[in-house]
Amino acid sequence: MIRKTKLSDISHIESLMKSVEGFWDKDWKEDVIQIGIKSANGLSFVFEENDEILGFICVHDVGFRAYLSELVVSVKAQGKSIGKELVAKVEKELKKRGCKTLISDVWKDAEEFYAKLGWSKPDVVLLRKKL
Ligand SMILES: CC(C)(COP(=O)(O)OP(=O)(O)OC[C@H]1O[C@@H](n2cnc3c(N)ncnc32)[C@H](O)[C@@H]1OP(=O)(O)O)[C@@H](O)C(=O)NCCC(=O)NCCS
Repeated sequence: MIRKTKLSDISHIESLMKSVEGFWDKDWKEDVIQIGIKSANGLSFVFEENDEILGFICVHDVGFRAYLSELVVSVKAQGKSIGKELVAKVEKELKKRGCKTLISDVWKDAEEFYAKLGWSKPDVVLLRKKL
């Protein structure tokens, strides 16, 4: 079942993220998940089954476009359409808000997953500056 994220989910989401190899970034702030959920402003969701959080997604409507900051599915639950359903959920919510474009920086390994859901490469490059 997909439902809105609650602040009480934070420790479970953190465990989920840390259980996926390479996912957790040591540079993240201690309260990174709380900041993400709050700034998502109602656009973060979990996939829950038998009281266990198996997936998490977080998007941010910044007006000009929306940004998918995090998507993760528990290793044991991957390949069961949870990721696909979570992305479909946020796309539906964003369409309702009038958003036309959703962007994300995704793991190279996950590129094919997004391609299957109709995502494509835009005519721009992603740059970053380490602060
Ligand atoms: C990538 C991820 C979110 C996909 O979620 P999932 O629930 O396992 O994927 P789904 O079961 O919804 O898959 C949907 C389709 O994409 C395919 N797919 C899933 N992961 C894939 C991958 N890494 N590469 C290629 N295809 C993939 C599935 O086979 C399925 O194809 P089908 O519709 O033809 O059967 C999940 O594997 C994950 O959390 N991975 C680790 C973290 C990560 O990569 N996060 C996303 C980018 S930052």
